[in-house]
Amino acid sequence: MTVTRHAQIDWDEQGNPHSREFCDVYFSTESGLAETRHVFLVQNDLANRFTALPEHGRLVIGETGFGTGLNFLCAWQLFEECATASARLHFVSVEKFPLSLVDLQRSLALWPELAAFAEQLLAQYVAVHEGFQRFVFDGGRVTLTLLIGDALEMLPQLDGQIDAWFLDGFAPAKNPEMWTPQLFAELARLAAPDSTIGTFTSTGWVRRALNAAGFKMKRVPGIGHKWEVLRGVFVGWPEEAPAIPAAKPWFARPAKYAGQRKALVIGAGMAGCTTAASLAARGWQVSLLERHAEVAQEASGMPQGVLYLKLSAHGTALSQLILSGFGYTRRALERLQRGIDWDGCGVLQLAFNGKEAQRQAQLAEAFDPELLQLVDKSEAEARSGITLTSGGLFFPEGGWVHPPALCRAHAAHANIELHLHREVVELRRNGDQWQAWDGDKLLATAPVVILAGAADIKRFPASADLPLKRIRGQITRLPQTEASQTLRTVVCAEGYVAPPRLGEHTLGASFDFKNDDLSITTADHLGNLHYMQEISDDLLERLGAPSLAPEDLQGRAAFRCTSPDYLPIVGPLADKEAFTQTYAALSKDARQVPDAPCPWLEGLYINSGHGSRGLITAPLCAELLAAWLTDEPLPLPRSVAEACHPNRFMLRELIRGN
Ligand SMILES: Cc1cc2nc3c(=O)[nH]c(=O)nc-3n(C[C@H](O)[C@H](O)[C@H](O)COP(=O)(O)OP(=O)(O)OC[C@H]3O[C@@H](n4cnc5c(N)ncnc54)[C@H](O)[C@@H]3O)c2cc1C
Ligand SMILES: C[S@@+](CC[C@H](N)C(=O)[O-])C[C@H]1O[C@@H](n2cnc3c(N)ncnc32)[C@H](O)[C@@H]1O
Repeated sequence: MTVTRHAQIDWDEQGNPHSREFCDVYFSTESGLAETRHVFLVQNDLANRFTALPEHGRLVIGETGFGTGLNFLCAWQLFEECATASARLHFVSVEKFPLSLVDLQRSLALWPELAAFAEQLLAQYVAVHEGFQRFVFDGGRVTLTLLIGDALEMLPQLDGQIDAWFLDGFAPAKNPEMWTPQLFAELARLAAPDSTIGTFTSTGWVRRALNAAGFKMKRVPGIGHKWEVLRGVFVGWPEEAPAIPAAKPWFARPAKYAGQRKALVIGAGMAGCTTAASLAARGWQVSLLERHAEVAQEASGMPQGVLYLKLSAHGTALSQLILSGFGYTRRALERLQRGIDWDGCGVLQLAFNGKEAQRQAQLAEAFDPELLQLVDKSEAEARSGITLTSGGLFFPEGGWVHPPALCRAHAAHANIELHLHREVVELRRNGDQWQAWDGDKLLATAPVVILAGAADIKRFPASADLPLKRIRGQITRLPQTEASQTLRTVVCAEGYVAPPRLGEHTLGASFDFKNDDLSITTADHLGNLHYMQEISDDLLERLGAPSLAPEDLQGRAAFRCTSPDYLPIVGPLADKEAFTQTYAALSKDARQVPDAPCPWLEGLYINSGHGSRGLITAPLCAELLAAWLTDEPLPLPRSVAEACHPNRFMLRELIRGN
């Protein structure tokens, strides 16, 4: 794994940003806007294409080299001027050296006419770490997916179709490693039919290589100090090039959905509320059905949850999901009320034994210091404000969240109709509709249904075989004291303790695979106090814990819901019996890839299995689900989406011959 580094910027006398790495200028203040518009907007004919977008239409732009985001902001501004109100812009850009927030601010301050757009980008520019980082602007009208890493490594992980390419990335002579046939082949692989491309260079070999990749390129007059630039259209994957391998049918996208934009979401916890919101932002009418009197009454009902990143130095699918999900949730929190709904106070993970210390040292090598830093005991104490048992890893952008606030904020969208006190007992398929029933009462109907009821989705025959397990967890609520207010960050070891919210600290959380009873137990409170003792005797004293009667402690219990591989279960689901028959050959030879299409349960989708980290995984998985459903670029690498795919369990069973 390569650690992300910020761009090293030098500023010239005119205030233009220059890259130290590439010895080239990002743009020139004299003609930057005019050049961007001429090379990328005009050559891709975006004014006409934005204007022609139908109701709920969408255009996807892809870019190499996000840099200062100038091209993105110009495209957004033009989209805003031209496109109908229900249309959407999706911008995917790859960037190896993201600018620091300070440099981004300084660069964008040069363009007062873009200030209204730049402010929104700057307000969301947090937790921009390696991998896929999704941003949502203007209530979902504009989506930005930044792929942080080298274009040649990141683009092959992208699953999506690009309508217009902005081929940027410094002059070919200054950055020959990027301008390669492999890059151009990726642009072609990702190109939608009739995709177009614009680039500021008119270098002959670039034009020929793009032609060879399947684009029909043409030299056209340039602007400013560019004499000529290139424009092109995608005319097709070259016949002589090896065919692009098709996705395995069990992980392929279901046929493009062209029906009514109406969905039922069952369950209004973090997964259900965020799924409803991701669809609502795409113009869907959503009925959100919840059996309780309010949203977030089960696992998502804790007073405080932690943005806890359990990463791997080996770049596993789970680790990639966590890093992307953390960024996405962290940006969503920026819209809520700090101090009550959440706080970005930082999270300290203590090195509570030798093995953990070793793991943390590896993580510090593998990740960007803006994400996590090793701190010794005295620095950890200075940051947290209490005496600790050890040092550890500090995540400055982490913090705590009041999950019901995040759920409520998502469920509040005008396109979402929230139906409380509605328990869905049975799902029936009637024609092309899914019906939700409670006994003989029809609760709601829609062509698409998303099951977001954690482990309770197993009550429906279609999803009964998904291997979801419940793990009971209990938190303890402790009133803040004068002395406990020194605690400034969340501190975790095997358990966790957070700075106070509305006068109370949350201590968490017990783990019990065997207990199905949600009554609060004194034993679990004592367990949570023991966890806190592992963190800090000092804090225990400050909270007056030794003099508290354990039977008087207040708490809350709920079930986490986990899968055997600890990854969530997100996406479309196939009919198990038909799946087993269709792909029976795999039980004899696992390497076969039959080309029979997957027998999908039409219109049925899952968002569940978020385990102990739903605050980080569920909101981004809602975007993943919406992308599956609406045929958009996925917000995660293809391999991560496959690792989370509901069909993975049937496939494994088949291959093992069960
Ligand atoms: C004690 C504890 C501590 C935790 N700490 C953290 C933490 O620090 N950080 C973190 O990231 N995560 C934490 N988690 C995990 C996190 O809370 C979950 O991953 C997340 O809340 C899961 O959200 P969900 O929507 O999938 O499930 P839930 O919040 O359980 O929501 C499911 C909803 O579906 C409804 N429902 C189910 N079936 C039906 C039906 N048939 N009809 C109608 N409604 C239905 C339920 O009533 C419920 O509201 C913790 C969990 C627990 C229990
Ligand atoms: C001229 S700047 C882009 C300007 C940008 N589009 C804008 O609107 O400000 C080129 C960008 O490409 C990035 N870049 C260069 N080589 C890259 C590579 N191999 N992969 C990803 N990004 C790369 C640079 O870090 C830089 O930010």
